[in-house]
Parts: sequence; structure tokens; C-alpha cells
Amino acid sequence: MAWKFTKAFSLLLLISIFTISISRTTIASDPDILSDFIAPTNQTSVDANYLTYTAMRGIFKKSIDACTTTKATKAEFPALDGQGVSLAVLQFPPGSVNPPHYHSRATGLFLLLEGVLEVDFVDTKDVLYTQRLKAGDIFLFPKGLQHYQYNYDHKKAAVGVAALSSASPGTVSLPSSIFNSGISDFVLARSFKTNESTIKKIKAASKKKTP
Ligand SMILES: *[C@@H]1O[C@H](CO)[C@@H](O)[C@H](O)[C@H]1NC(C)=O
Ligand SMILES: *[C@@H]1O[C@H](CO)[C@@H](O)[C@H](O)[C@H]1NC(C)=O
Repeated sequence: MAWKFTKAFSLLLLISIFTISISRTTIASDPDILSDFIAPTNQTSVDANYLTYTAMRGIFKKSIDACTTTKATKAEFPALDGQGVSLAVLQFPPGSVNPPHYHSRATGLFLLLEGVLEVDFVDTKDVLYTQRLKAGDIFLFPKGLQHYQYNYDHKKAAVGVAALSSASPGTVSLPSSIFNSGISDFVLARSFKTNESTIKKIKAASKKKTP
């Protein structure tokens, strides 16, 4: 009896260790690929055009009225598949905010190209790290931690580029994830220690673009 129990227990332990080691390797980084790059299956040969992304042409000339993020991830630029990297260009009109969000699968390395910008992230102990960047400064957003940016200059625009350590960074916007995902008013009212009419107001407002 005891022997049977020990055997079952060992098996369970072994399965747990195996599962943990698998999930560890899954969350560590994008999986390695066994070719130089991943070509589309419907094409026999690809050239440099496949490795070129041109959809960002002209984005600096467009006029914008809210913080705008333009992404080049695997979804927009399939050649990135398996390369463990992607890019986002962030444009901030004067006084605008990029609301709290996190990248489930990517570390962010942010370079401010133009203007000034407050950058902030919150660690797993709820400690806020805040910095005011000048053009040319680089700031690190650790993987999976929620962060936001604020153009505290209310007269000039700011522009930055974020390099992300995954082809599919898994960006989660907190306002949208919490208030636009269908979580019930009751649960949210309980969670935020308020009433359901307040939650309804926030839900309605969170569907609008953040200025
Ligand atoms: C291959 O498939 C992609 C995605 O469906 C499509 O956009 C592209 O035009 C296709 N290319 C060829 C050569 O069929
Ligand atoms: C909900 O809470 C708000 C803010 O505390 C308050 O002004 C409002 O009267 C409350 N509404 C209801 C229906 O209790």
C-alpha cells in the first residue's frame, strides 16, 4: 500500500517537474527556429522584399490627435516569425498619455527620438519607477510589467521607438482588458470597491480614445 502510494507520488512529482520545465522554456523567449528565417509556405523563393516592411512610410507626416502606436510585429510583418524581435513607433501629441499596458512576452527598450517624455513602470511589489526622458535617452521596460508614458510638454509633440524582445509581444492594455472585456459590473464594482453605476460610466468612457 505504502509502496504503491510512493510510486504514484513519484510519478506525480516527475510529471510536475516536467510540466514546469516545459512552461519555463515556453515563457523564456520566442522559440528558436531551425532555418535562417521562416518563408511563407505558399512561396518557393523569397527575396529582400519579404524582409522589408514599408507600411510605416509617411507616419511622421500624418496629423494625430491622440497617442498613436504603430506596430511592426509578426502580425503586420510575417518575416519576424521566430526572430524574437519587433518594433513599435509611438507618437505623442502635446500632453498626451499612453495608458498603462504590458507586454506579456517582451522586454521593451524605448528610445526617445524627439521631445520630452515621462516614462513609468510598476514592479511586482507595486513600486513605481518614474523618469523624465530627453531626446536621445533610452529606458528599459522589464518584461511583463505594466508601464505607461506621458508627454508632459503641453506644447510640443514627442516621438519614440520601442524595440520589443518578441515577434509577438502580447500587448495588454489595462483599461481595455479590465473594462472592455466583458467582466461583469458586479465583479468590477466589488473589485474596485465602488458601485455598478460608476463602473458603467468608466466602461462607456474607456471605449473612447485616450487624448
Ligand atoms: C501567400 O499567402 C499570403 C497570405 O495568405 C498572401 O498574402 C500572398 O499573396 C500569397 N503569395 C503567393 C505568391 O501566392
Ligand atoms: C455610486 O458612487 C458614486 C461615487 O461614490 C456616487 O456619487 C453615486 O451616488 C453612487 N450611485 C449609486 C446608485 O449608489
